Amino acid sequence: MSKINNIGILTSGGDSPGMNAAIRSVVRTCCYYGLSVFGIRRGYQGMIEGDIFKMQTTDVSNIIQRGGTILKTARSKEFMTDEGMKKAYGQVSAHGIDALVLIGGDGTFRGANHFFEKYTIPAVGIPGTIDKDLVGTDYTIGFDTAVNTAVEAIDKIRDTAEAHDRLFIVEVMGRDAGYIALNSGIACGAEDILIPEQATHIDEVLNRIDRDERRKKTVHIIVVAEGDEFGGAKEFYTAITERFPALDVRTCVLGHIQRGGSPSYADRVLASRLGYAAVNALRHGNTQVMAGVINDKIIFTPFAKVIKGEAPINRDMLEMIRVLSA
Ligand code: F6P
Repeated sequence: MSKINNIGILTSGGDSPGMNAAIRSVVRTCCYYGLSVFGIRRGYQGMIEGDIFKMQTTDVSNIIQRGGTILKTARSKEFMTDEGMKKAYGQVSAHGIDALVLIGGDGTFRGANHFFEKYTIPAVGIPGTIDKDLVGTDYTIGFDTAVNTAVEAIDKIRDTAEAHDRLFIVEVMGRDAGYIALNSGIACGAEDILIPEQATHIDEVLNRIDRDERRKKTVHIIVVAEGDEFGGAKEFYTAITERFPALDVRTCVLGHIQRGGSPSYADRVLASRLGYAAVNALRHGNTQVMAGVINDKIIFTPFAKVIKGEAPINRDMLEMIRVLSA
């Protein structure tokens, strides 16, 4: 394998807190080893358009604590086409980029895998998504911060819910994955947690509310992942108020506040470790893999495996919720 000299870096898909810390780590590691590093703005779309610039170590000063991504991000439809990929490869070659670091989630690695079926360029992925829905890593960059944001919000909701004896339905992010709902719900002592990975039987949800009503439990908080198959906060509101018209019910959709904000220490450390590991993997010829952390060790998983696998939900936690909220 020929020596790598010029590394391109991009962030793609939904942003996540800690992406900047990962960019910083990649840039600083490249600079340390005398490699050139090129920032590619707006993910694959910027790659297609040649929105590429040379980065220096000072470009990443004072960003470790900032949410968002200084490289900006996008979900590029054009990159999914043969023409788009051809243009992207042309731009990468024109800038002399001979390896890539890709920071993103499931969609980012799907796009990458598709691209590498046609074009040969060494690449390493870094998992950056609040959803934590990737195999090959115990944690993704941004997940910890997003859960902490949700926890802070739900705690506040519990205060007002208790003051008014209200039932609250809080919808958190997670289109296909329930990790944010599961973890924020447990951390906030939610009475019910509804996630895409487990079938929702609305009668059971209603029966649990009925049970709590009979016991005169004043607060009932339901945390639902946006991707739950029954629906989000709106659908649960309709079902609950139809069955219990006298109940005082409110909804709160936390939405994109979960994607922003200063990353937690855990996300900054994870991002720093993965950025450093990604550049070193490229230096040593370990490519077309995603860097992850499993049992506190850096592990590399081939892109093909990352996108085909399904990160399993911890069933013991689901069982525990029933016990703790009874
Ligand atoms: O993939 C991360 C995520 O935040 C999902 O949880 C959510 O469904 C989606 O992105 C929202 O995407 P957008 O910001 O494009 O609306």
